[in-house]
Amino acid sequence: MCQNMDEETAMEFSALQETLATHFKWFHSHPELGHHEWETTAHIRDILKDAGVKILDTGLKTGLVALVGGGETVVALRCDIDALPIAEATGLDYASKNGCMHACGHDFHLTSMIGAAAILKQRESRLMGAVKLVFQPAEETVNGAISVLASGALDDVAEIYGLHTAPDMPVSMIGVSPGAVYAAVGSFAIHIHGKGGHAAHPHECRDPIVALSQIVGAAQTIASRQTNPFDPVALSFTHVEAGNTWNVIPEDAFAEGTIRAFGKEQFNAIKGRLECVCKGVEATCGVSIDFHCELNAPAVNNDAELVEFVKRTAQELGFKTGPSNPTMGGEDFAFYLERIRGVFWNIGVASPEPAHNSRFAANPAALGTASALLASIAEKSLKRLGSVE
Ligand code: NI
Repeated sequence: MCQNMDEETAMEFSALQETLATHFKWFHSHPELGHHEWETTAHIRDILKDAGVKILDTGLKTGLVALVGGGETVVALRCDIDALPIAEATGLDYASKNGCMHACGHDFHLTSMIGAAAILKQRESRLMGAVKLVFQPAEETVNGAISVLASGALDDVAEIYGLHTAPDMPVSMIGVSPGAVYAAVGSFAIHIHGKGGHAAHPHECRDPIVALSQIVGAAQTIASRQTNPFDPVALSFTHVEAGNTWNVIPEDAFAEGTIRAFGKEQFNAIKGRLECVCKGVEATCGVSIDFHCELNAPAVNNDAELVEFVKRTAQELGFKTGPSNPTMGGEDFAFYLERIRGVFWNIGVASPEPAHNSRFAANPAALGTASALLASIAEKSLKRLGSVE
């Protein structure tokens, strides 16, 4: 599979692959939602303890931070462990039956981190510092990273690396690109207060439905007419509500949705335009409008120099590399990268369906590659940081 791999790595690789596939199937069939990953956390803890890996006392309710090696120089590897409220339809013999599903590959991420922990444990005596392995809760709800950062467990970390499955890339292909690779994600809510009345006497009313329709229509020009065509932007209305019968103009209308962009500046510009649309409609329709919009997670911004380092490390191990697929999806790994230099890279798992689909299926054959790369990235970054200081 990997021609350039040295003998030691190749041996670790094949021995680990089988064990990891067994762990992966267990985690896949026991998915739990964000902040409720009790069994998942207990199982990770048991496996790591058996491997002699130290677990830090962080105060996290679910998820954990493990430690291999020691010393002043510290780097971190991060995975996520939560699942989605999706009923699985893969038909796999290890499919989940509890109504939740690892449909984003977090079972794959955490299993490769278990593999990386085992590899690093074997190399512990030659590590030039400490590796913190973060098994993060609640990525899907975009607040798990904040809880890990708030625990202080990463205060001494110089570099951080994380991975995500790429369903549409071949098994074990590594995708990595500099700059923004996941979008800044925000949500907005618009409350319109008009004046209700008889549908036969619209002139006596202030129709919130017409106001809402104008906002939805005019907002379509923000991405198409008011932003640079070279700046990727998505603005979607996902929920509208107004009225409850055929002959009454209601008092109120409501809409919510999401804004995606590749930077805070672009995000704030779109937010500003949407607010202007609301103000304009407020004036022309004679209604009052409350507009709320917040940034839930910034863009995932990869450090260009460290991207080259990850690419080189993957190639040295004999793995194929290419650019990552940029996505308008969000990732709370962004919060780590706001404070710590690092890289978020992709690994191909050749799934028949995309992430968050009930037939998403990561190919466990890529687990060995992910583990070997995570471990080598940590080992080599410690070496590089050590030689700089
Ligand atoms: Ni995910």
